[in-house]
Amino acid sequence: MADLEYHIPVMLEPCLEGLDIQPGGTYVDVTFGGGGHSRAILDRLGENGRLIAFDQDEDVKAHLPEDGRFSLVDENFRHLKRFLRLHNALPVDGILADLGVSSHQFDEAERGFSFRADARLDMRMDRRTERTAWDIINNYDEEALRNILRTYGELTNAGFTAKCIVRARSQQQIDTVGQLKEAVAAAMGRDKQAKFLAKLFQAIRIELNEEIDALRAFLTQSVDVLKPGGRLVVMSYHSLEDRLVKNFIKRGNFEGDIHKDFFGNDLRAFDPLNGKAIVPDAEEEARNPRSRSAKLRIGVKRA
Ligand SMILES: C[S@@+](CC[C@H](N)C(=O)[O-])C[C@H]1O[C@@H](n2cnc3c(N)ncnc32)[C@H](O)[C@@H]1O
Repeated sequence: MADLEYHIPVMLEPCLEGLDIQPGGTYVDVTFGGGGHSRAILDRLGENGRLIAFDQDEDVKAHLPEDGRFSLVDENFRHLKRFLRLHNALPVDGILADLGVSSHQFDEAERGFSFRADARLDMRMDRRTERTAWDIINNYDEEALRNILRTYGELTNAGFTAKCIVRARSQQQIDTVGQLKEAVAAAMGRDKQAKFLAKLFQAIRIELNEEIDALRAFLTQSVDVLKPGGRLVVMSYHSLEDRLVKNFIKRGNFEGDIHKDFFGNDLRAFDPLNGKAIVPDAEEEARNPRSRSAKLRIGVKRA
């Protein structure tokens, strides 16, 4: 059984269908989390099938499947190709990525991902690294703060919010979630405080964990590790991530430019399986509110 307290898997069936699982194939789940998707993949694999999962958060080790067909790589998926080679797993038949953080990471107050609990500013997915959200909030200059709040948080008042942080920390270091909330109180407005804070925290988390760089590296390497006809299945929760995934699958580059070869053929590594992103149905959204912003895209590796 999947560890549903840890994380409820989002769009499970569409992800499995997208992977087009062959019983003897080799699959990669680059975001193991609670293992919901991984366990369902193992259920569909035959005895010669293989599943390699990645997760950089050591907490996932508490509930790994005991299954000879399964192995965990406790590393960042930005090193996809290197570790698949090390595990003698190349080439692979399908890759699944369910980006972002798990419910477990949000719900563990001391991890500092949630604005709903007080904790030290942390937000590291990989706690072997030293840098935390504290460094961003206390050390980034105002312009750098404004840029990440605008780009990763899509905050309309990113400039004013950055100013509030810089002003507050000139009086006293900002160590905790509670102190950060006090620092930005004037930028929050009266309504929609939760929405504002969700965006602020998302921005800091994406910057700290270098999520956009990791996604770009992962997508680029997926081309080299997949067999022709192999599936790339990516679920994202942020418009910036979805744009990168969409452009990469549809156009073969992150900017969305159309590149053609001498004969006029599209230069891209994947064919998109669907024109539009797949989204959760109303029933899933009601049952699992965290699925609401999910967008699923599937690419089939070209020959
Ligand atoms: C949304 S959860 C995955 C949930 C999982 N599909 C399930 O059903 O339980 C994302 C997981 O991916 C991990 N993760 C995110 N970015 C990563 C990266 N760049 N490298 C390795 N793991 C990453 C997080 O630590 C988290 O556990």
